[in-house]
Amino acid sequence: MSRQLNVAVIGASGAVGEVFLRVAAERKFPIGQLKLLATKRSAGKQMEYAGQSYTVEETSLDALRGADLVFCSATSEASKLWGPQVVQAGAVMIDDGSAYRMQENVPLVVPEVNGADVDWHEGILSIPNCTTTPLAMALHALRQVATIARVTTSTYQAVSGTGAQAVAELKSQLAAFGRGEAIPAPEVYPHQIAMNVIPQVDSFGEDMYTGEELKMRNETRKILHLPELPFAATCVRVPTIIGHAESVHVQFEGPAGVEDAREALSKMPGLAVMDEPAKSVYPTPLNTEGDDRAFVGRLRRDQSVEHGLVFWVVSDNLRKGAATNALQIAEEMMRRGKI
Ligand SMILES: NC(=O)c1ccc[n+]([C@@H]2O[C@H](COP(=O)([O-])OP(=O)(O)OC[C@H]3O[C@@H](n4cnc5c(N)ncnc54)[C@H](OP(=O)(O)O)[C@@H]3O)[C@@H](O)[C@H]2O)c1
Repeated sequence: MSRQLNVAVIGASGAVGEVFLRVAAERKFPIGQLKLLATKRSAGKQMEYAGQSYTVEETSLDALRGADLVFCSATSEASKLWGPQVVQAGAVMIDDGSAYRMQENVPLVVPEVNGADVDWHEGILSIPNCTTTPLAMALHALRQVATIARVTTSTYQAVSGTGAQAVAELKSQLAAFGRGEAIPAPEVYPHQIAMNVIPQVDSFGEDMYTGEELKMRNETRKILHLPELPFAATCVRVPTIIGHAESVHVQFEGPAGVEDAREALSKMPGLAVMDEPAKSVYPTPLNTEGDDRAFVGRLRRDQSVEHGLVFWVVSDNLRKGAATNALQIAEEMMRRGKI
């Protein structure tokens, strides 16, 4: 991986963008020229990458000129506006948003699961939603043990999953509570998030599932190449800042022993098993924050079905759920000569 790439980051000033710069430096991603882009609001802001200071610019065709690779973690509107123009200029875009994920000609990739899907890209590739990625990794490991018949999950999602404004909202509500003052009215979420949990992530759609719940179902099916997989999710926002957790029930078509499952999960690249219940050892948002891996714990038999397992997954939504996965896709493309 010696070739240097000219990289532009759309959304550099956001929650994911900031972590992206940190992770890219940690991984020594081969960046030649680097452009940090956002809206007019953040233009002029100074940000650091690998010990050097860069000025954020407003996103424009001119600013994107010369980029080989564009990472976009902004809004769907920005992805839809810039994606075709990036491709037309002969560059590649790796998109963090939901604009292209389910498009047939766009690979949706978790490199440890379906890295080979980068081979058929036509210029745009997408990362999954931040709850889908760790779940797809665990399911991919478990399908080596037995065929998966059905998946149900409930999530416990941190506010940074909504972006920098949501983090500010939780902090200001907590600060007001700490001072004994009235809690400011919510602007990002439909209800106060401090001291609360909200069983709504995204707006309600098909059959009263939320957009996030449908994303989880559809994206998991696409990544695993299991278009009919029976799947249902309940997505819940909780007052943590970083780290999405999920309780997962998987039913199999045949026997799937806990120890076989533990071995398969332990062997899965990018996944770590943290599971010593007697010592209260299991993953939590706080003990996994800042780590690029997804973590599994609380592995046990699902006593409600004949062949079933229950477990708990946690991952840093800004890293493996976003920035790290995007960078890994680019690394996979470089390994395969696809960029
Ligand atoms: N947060 C997560 O855990 C996570 C995980 C996976 C995927 N994602 C996806 O990543 C994307 C960014 O999420 P985030 O959490 O980082 O959001 P965020 O904190 O709200 O940041 C949004 C960024 O996009 C920029 N931006 C907004 N509109 C733009 C436009 N029209 N053109 C160019 N730049 C624009 C903003 O610039 P200004 O500073 O100038 O406003 C800011 O840099 C979203 O699509 C989200 O779905 C997020």
